Amino acid sequence: MRNFVFYKPTKIIFGRDTIPQIGKETVVFGKKVLFVYGKGSIKKTGIYDQVMKSFQDAGITAIEHGGVKSNPVLSHVREGIKIAKENRVEAVAAVGGGSVIDSAKAIAAGAVVEHDVWKFFRTKKSIKKVLPLTCVLTLAASGSEMNGGMVVTNEETLQKFGIGNHLLQPLVSILDPSTTFTVGPDYTAYGAVDALSHILEFYFTTREPYTPVQDRLMEGLVINIMESCNRVMARPDDYNARADFMWCATLALNGLTAAGLGRVGFPMHLIEHSLSAIYDVPHGAGLSVVMPGWMTHQAHENPARFAQLAERVFYVKKADESKMAAYGIAELKAWFEKISCPTDLGALQIPEQDIPRIAENTQGLAKVWRLEEYTKDKVEAILRLCT
Ligand code: NZQ
Ligand code: ZN
Repeated sequence: MRNFVFYKPTKIIFGRDTIPQIGKETVVFGKKVLFVYGKGSIKKTGIYDQVMKSFQDAGITAIEHGGVKSNPVLSHVREGIKIAKENRVEAVAAVGGGSVIDSAKAIAAGAVVEHDVWKFFRTKKSIKKVLPLTCVLTLAASGSEMNGGMVVTNEETLQKFGIGNHLLQPLVSILDPSTTFTVGPDYTAYGAVDALSHILEFYFTTREPYTPVQDRLMEGLVINIMESCNRVMARPDDYNARADFMWCATLALNGLTAAGLGRVGFPMHLIEHSLSAIYDVPHGAGLSVVMPGWMTHQAHENPARFAQLAERVFYVKKADESKMAAYGIAELKAWFEKISCPTDLGALQIPEQDIPRIAENTQGLAKVWRLEEYTKDKVEAILRLCT
């Protein structure tokens, strides 16, 4: 077990009819609040009205900054920072999925500095202060509601970069599973793939030889994400299934699974971010294409690890480790197809001849994430396994 610090200042308010608490939870940080949301789902679902009423009841003046797109872009974040500064907001409230929460985090960090916010993403500047952030989660996937991560795409340079800082953790996150009843089968499936990848990135990149506590935690979360997703697909308004799914997605990337694993990485995300940056594919759809290819490439390095997942999650019978690993990967890929996720570049309409360009695009983030072993050639070899 390696040394670790597990610091989670996010107050989670979980359950039905919790959204009306957002006003009183936010007003403690200030009465002038930047209200960040997406393209309109919250207006269709009635969440917008609930949130605005809660703000009014709490005496909050909400300055709206809607229009965050999925795979959020830097230009929209910069606009939000400008509005936040002009109105001298005291806090930021995000209502939406990971794209909205990440944009809000970037605005909260950029609103208190003079330099451009993109400098944080290129690690040219470090975050020392942020505006207080609260959120209402409406889509279970990214885990941004309870972590210090944020991902934004610089649409001019086609770079989708992510950074982490504990100051970026929302101070309060409201998770009402019934808000996700309106999430369609596509983004439900993408969310499941994303949450699974957050777990498997750590499961396969830790170099710790013996991690029984984290292994069983991660394996249990993988099993529950798949099972609750299957229940949601069968009955989209099954509250308990949506609740199990939502809480698993939050636990998948709030730091708990990584505690004690030592240095871990996000190589699958490294590659997926380039797919989303260049082709604007949904994050989870990019991952369902990249994961089986990356796992196949990696299994040769550590077949025992892949065989353990195959045995404990897919109940693959004991056999030669490489065979077990291959069975486990095939089972995961088959499940991706069962929930109608793409599993090759063609299904994303990405031509094979683009592979060198995609691999080139990963190199900037590989440096920022200190994943230099993922050279252009290695990434190309992995992408050729995703065709
Ligand atoms: O924009 P609106 O109208 O709200 O529509 C959204 C969007 O079109 C819609 N939606 C959200 N809640 C809904 C809903 N539709 C119906 N009912 C609801 N209740 O769903 C679409 C996707 O939303 P988005 O926020 O993009 O999805 P997700 O939560 O998967 O977030 C994806 C972003 O998270 C980043 C990804 O890179 C991507 O940019 N990630 C952030 C991480 C972090 N901060 O730690 C880690 C992740 O690995 C991930 O990289
Ligand atoms: Zn992700």
